[in-house]
Amino acid sequence: MGIELTPSDGGGRKKVSVKTLQRMKTQGQRIVMVTSYDYPTAAIADQAGVDSVLVGDSYGMVVLGYETTIPVTVEELLPVCRAVSRGAEHPLRIGDMPFMSFQASIEDAVRNAGRFVKEGNVEAVKVEGGNEVSEMVSAISRVGIPVLGHIGVTPQTANLQGGYRIRGKTAESISKLVAEAVSLESAGAFGIVLEMVTEEAAEMVTKKVGIPTIGIGSGRFCDGQVLVLHDIIGLFPKFTPKFARRYSDVGSIIKASLDRYANEVREGKFPAKEHVFNVDPNPKPRDTSVRNN
Ligand code: KIV
Repeated sequence: MGIELTPSDGGGRKKVSVKTLQRMKTQGQRIVMVTSYDYPTAAIADQAGVDSVLVGDSYGMVVLGYETTIPVTVEELLPVCRAVSRGAEHPLRIGDMPFMSFQASIEDAVRNAGRFVKEGNVEAVKVEGGNEVSEMVSAISRVGIPVLGHIGVTPQTANLQGGYRIRGKTAESISKLVAEAVSLESAGAFGIVLEMVTEEAAEMVTKKVGIPTIGIGSGRFCDGQVLVLHDIIGLFPKFTPKFARRYSDVGSIIKASLDRYANEVREGKFPAKEHVFNVDPNPKPRDTSVRNN
């Protein structure tokens, strides 16, 4: 049996806003965020009651097959945001600002964040980086667009940082993370993604800032967790990161279905009688008495 994809009323669930996430932190309720890149998975995420969907630039890797997130453009992500916004009604929808859509100038940052909200129909944006993007975060927030920060491993600048090294292993590295988080909070960020940060560092940052922290590969003490959908459902063939848990193996289900389909077509078993349309043996004469203007 298939799943009903029409967005439901969420069981009377209220729309999640940045204020909701803030309240969840204050009340010690864990925040659930997941990436989504299309209408059906957005509608399913909504039905599953996740608090927030992120149209991550990971789309470039897990859907478009790029080696990194660096080539992803605003033009590629906007239609994806629109599709997700049609499916995810209740979760807070966040668009990920791709590499070079906000770094070159404050004007670029504000203009592109505006495009995500106006053309992509998301309610917030995410930007990667610490102190170096604080000015952009405050400019975007000042025009009324909520911004989610992202520190620790930041894939857009992994080349400069020497790859995907875990952050927060030393006292110096922890102090740097805490300082970056504080600077993003002061700039107006409504939350911060902590990617591949030691559990100890993530706990310190989470205690230090008043805004929610959302961990990915950063241990148990963040205010919430985010994972890439394709890692959760087993639909990224290249690898599953150590920090992700695979809850199903959708890739194998698709493969088995396609194997069966191909065999049945080749063996003439599909289509069967129930799939065909036939000539009507007793066609009714057309009613010409009513004008159809
Ligand atoms: O692009 C993305 O999916 C992300 C998450 C992993 C946080 O940035």
